[in-house]
Amino acid sequence: TTAGNVIKCKAAVAWAPKQPLSIEDIEVAPPKAHEVRVKMVATGICRSDDHVLSGSISSVKFPVILGHEGAGIVESVGPGVRNIKPGDKVITLFQPQCGECRNCLDPKSNMCLKSDIGKHTGMMLDNSSRFTCKGRLIQHFVHTSTFTEYTVLDEMAVAKIQDDAPLDKVCLISCGFSTGYGSALNTAKVKQGSTCAVFGLGGVGLSVVIGCKVAGAAKIIGVDTNSDKFAKAKEVGATECINPKHYKEPIHKVLERLTEGGLDYSFECIGNTSVMASALLSTNYSCGTSVIVGVAPSAAELNLNPMEILTGRTLKGAIFGGWKGRDCVPKLVADFMAKKFELDGLISHRLPLQKINEGFDLLHKGESLRTVLYF
Ligand code: APR
Ligand code: ZN
Ligand code: ZN
Repeated sequence: TTAGNVIKCKAAVAWAPKQPLSIEDIEVAPPKAHEVRVKMVATGICRSDDHVLSGSISSVKFPVILGHEGAGIVESVGPGVRNIKPGDKVITLFQPQCGECRNCLDPKSNMCLKSDIGKHTGMMLDNSSRFTCKGRLIQHFVHTSTFTEYTVLDEMAVAKIQDDAPLDKVCLISCGFSTGYGSALNTAKVKQGSTCAVFGLGGVGLSVVIGCKVAGAAKIIGVDTNSDKFAKAKEVGATECINPKHYKEPIHKVLERLTEGGLDYSFECIGNTSVMASALLSTNYSCGTSVIVGVAPSAAELNLNPMEILTGRTLKGAIFGGWKGRDCVPKLVADFMAKKFELDGLISHRLPLQKINEGFDLLHKGESLRTVLYF
């Protein structure tokens, strides 16, 4: 039995920014109080991992084990862990739910104050690491670190899910899918019969389309500068797609015409502040809602004429689609199992952990929606 012992295993270590990851033999210490050690089964590669590797989230310290879109099986638990046991299937939560802080206690918020996003301490809650490699301490990443055969998670960053869930698919519920889907259902609260536009038809944008469809939207207009994205978008629920490059007039004017006075809801799923401004303008001036989903560069600023809001529009945003992880992720998995939505359309590639750098190359070339790594 491995419980209580150090585990030696393979992991993709990021030694420094702007360098390929390297597959190393690492040591993973046993879980301490209120911690869980997990054998990873599947993890997606997300753009946020790439942002760290490219050096654009400069507060993350190296060497680090990245990855935050994971699913696995519990190997052992530390003292005090009550509701999770060895053998359980789990999903990692980069947006944790401690259940006790001011934001966890507010039903309107999912921004647990113990989250490591933005702070980037790179440590477990007790301020130490469970990873070493070649005698060096390796940092954790936003309480998850999934690019490793074994990881250790604080209990607050673990959602227990049902035993029959296919981990190689539901790992997407750990980040990309839930972010888009929740932006439609929780943040915008899309109503039946409404008109929606989704700017940016990558994995996140497609998940917004799925959310709008589940909410019963009448029109779901996909907007992308790359028309190659349209077929997939229509497959998952877009009713029509438009390419801003094909019009002389600004895209918000086109959308205003297509919807007789502006959209009920718009979503920016790119991270481009000028698209955010035009997504807002595309909504009805008196009752439209626009949601920021894409992550803009950290120094970016949004330029708005206040009159665009004063007339009655709403501008919103949320991390992880507004879901409280431990409460909601098991329900999302149950909804997936009940065929309320599909995830296959979002997975474009599957690779073994050893080929992780190929996965990042696919992301850079814009060829992948999601690459899922297996172990
Ligand atoms: N107008 C319309 N579409 C655009 C524009 C633009 N100006 N610029 C880029 N796009 C399209 C791209 O062609 C691509 O299809 O936006 C899409 C973005 O998709 P991906 O790069 O695959 O990104 P994705 O993984 O979906 O994430 C989108 O959400 O979580 C965040 O960090 C993530 O900011 C990123 C965003
Ligand atoms: Zn992510
Ligand atoms: Zn909390």
